[in-house]
Amino acid sequence: MPELSVVIVATDNEQRTVLQVLVDGTSVARTVHICASYPVAASDPVTRRVQAANPDVVMVDIPTDNNSGTALRAVELLHQELPESAIFAIGSLSQPQVIVSAMRAGAREYIERPTTTTDLLEAFVRLTTAQRRVQKEGPRGKVFFVVNAKGGCGSTTIAVNLALALQASHGQTALVDLAPLGHAALHLNVKPLFNISDATRNLHRMDSSLLESFMTRHKGGLQLLAGPSVPASLEPSTAEFVRLFDMLVNHYRYVVVDNSSRLDAASRLVANLSECVLLVACTDVASLWSAARVQQYLGETGNRERLRLVLNRFRKVPGFSETDAENAAGVKLIWRVPNQYFAVSSSIDRGAPVMEQSHTEIARCFSGLAQELTRNDVDVKRAAWSLFKTV
Ligand SMILES: Nc1ncnc2c1ncn2[C@@H]1O[C@H](COP(=O)(O)OP(=O)(O)OP(=O)(O)O)[C@@H](O)[C@H]1O
Ligand SMILES: [Mg+2]
Repeated sequence: MPELSVVIVATDNEQRTVLQVLVDGTSVARTVHICASYPVAASDPVTRRVQAANPDVVMVDIPTDNNSGTALRAVELLHQELPESAIFAIGSLSQPQVIVSAMRAGAREYIERPTTTTDLLEAFVRLTTAQRRVQKEGPRGKVFFVVNAKGGCGSTTIAVNLALALQASHGQTALVDLAPLGHAALHLNVKPLFNISDATRNLHRMDSSLLESFMTRHKGGLQLLAGPSVPASLEPSTAEFVRLFDMLVNHYRYVVVDNSSRLDAASRLVANLSECVLLVACTDVASLWSAARVQQYLGETGNRERLRLVLNRFRKVPGFSETDAENAAGVKLIWRVPNQYFAVSSSIDRGAPVMEQSHTEIARCFSGLAQELTRNDVDVKRAAWSLFKTV
């Protein structure tokens, strides 16, 4: 499968090898050329070789010794000579001046050394997501990521009913259960034969029909990619999640993720791929305190402007306004879901989601949220973006 092409520029032998292993290990990018010296002029053969490789990304190692000046000048030169390529600087975080200089010289990312595959993967995803926005490649699938501020705030209830509302209004919707122990199947009263681990284990031979065979169909047409029914012993890697979501957005118009209370590199990465991250909190101190921490964690990798607060089990608290909740969580409010314990808990027990009880206040509330999230894409058809270049 075609991937992002990467050129590595590093004078240190070991660092060149490490970076190549890490890049190729992301499985969304491939090293196409390696340079052992920094280019110093546009006419330099090193510059010409990098240009000939026509990479999506040039990764420049910035050493901590006296050579950092040469490396920074190389960043500037490569940025000028390869305006279509993104420059990633790899260096130490202990030298703020070097970071500032690298970014001024045109680096798109400054990635800490020692680097991990996850760091690189997150940077590649950010790059592709940004490019896809600029290019406006036309209709594409959207991911809505639902995450709890704190366990039990209602992520599963909101993800399940939002997915049903999207399916009812637009069709072609999938619900993906990323929770460590998946509850979405119980909410929908379906019995999955396969789950997300089966899908990620078979990525190497995945096509549309195989993907569909891992999904469990709910009676209204919603397709569920179920979570594990026993705590998963072998977690899919972050790279596998990226590939899986690439498939999903090419296949479905809307993909709702129930992330519940999972907070790890993989879920943060999926949040990075999402159109909107719905942070579910209740109006109590502990939950809003947690919301602020979760938004900080997710925001570290560039999700901040896509984060929205959903206040679940909403009730008016005298002396505490919605603006107070927004300020406490540090996220803009998008929706309120009323506190209807009997309706919601009995619907979960019966496996009959509240969305199925049309004309009720709570069903209208979820339809409204679906409408709010899709109001600019009435004519959106199926996904067309890909993390991978098409050749
Ligand atoms: N709007 C609501 N009004 C009243 N009760 C609610 C509401 N939404 C959810 N609940 C209740 O909160 C409980 C937890 O809901 P849910 O399973 O959706 O939470 P969760 O955040 O996904 O939990 P977990 O952290 O275990 O993944 C359920 O028993 C449900 O009845
Ligand atoms: Mg849950």
